[in-house]
Amino acid sequence: MPDLFETMSTMRAMRRLKPDPVPDELINKILQAGQWAPSGGNTQRWRFLVVKDPEVKKKVQVYYSRLYDETVGPRYSTSAPPPGSDPERYKRQNAAVKYLTDHYHEAPVWIVACLEDGENPGRTAGSSIYGAVQNMCLACRALGLGTTLTTRHTGYGKEVDAIFGLPPGAHSYAILPIGWPMGRFGPLGRGPLKEVVYQDQWGKPYASL
Ligand SMILES: Cc1cc2nc3c(=O)[nH]c(=O)nc-3n(C[C@H](O)[C@H](O)[C@H](O)COP(=O)(O)O)c2cc1C
Repeated sequence: MPDLFETMSTMRAMRRLKPDPVPDELINKILQAGQWAPSGGNTQRWRFLVVKDPEVKKKVQVYYSRLYDETVGPRYSTSAPPPGSDPERYKRQNAAVKYLTDHYHEAPVWIVACLEDGENPGRTAGSSIYGAVQNMCLACRALGLGTTLTTRHTGYGKEVDAIFGLPPGAHSYAILPIGWPMGRFGPLGRGPLKEVVYQDQWGKPYASL
């Protein structure tokens, strides 16, 4: 098993997944990694929905795909590549994003990360669930499974939460489509670290980098 730093540095968004089943034993390890995360006041208001039912996944994929057509696709075609990327790489990213859009429901297992966060969640609500989400992404990588942190469905959050049967006061924050990857892990494309680290005051270079 790779060490933690290797796991983090090769944990790419794995959007091309095989439909082959993933043993429950591995999914349970991933869920445990999620539950080990911190939450504000250790309140643990998370709920993790394991979704395998093809009909449920397909219903959600319809919204996920609609959002690609409405916002994500047009944004990719008009925006500049992010730091550490280039036009060719960005084009490949968009192709992978489109692939996942079309095959979202074919991932054998989804983990939907939800929070019982009340009717009007505030600005910090997500901080009590995204640690768990990241732990689960890292656990997938450590086990050789592919996943991608996806939040696009929240563009139709009410509709999608209704498909999952969420009660009032609970919301889904991320969907992790999980499966065996078709491609390889890593390396990641990121900009230079020294461009995003300041010392003492915003904009002042951090001397150690
Ligand atoms: C908050 C958040 C939301 C994201 N939502 C989606 C999504 O809905 N669909 C998707 O394909 N990727 C999604 N991603 C994945 C990012 O696009 C991905 O992490 C980024 O491009 C870096 O990819 P890399 O880690 O492979 O370099 C999301 C990532 C984050 C952090």
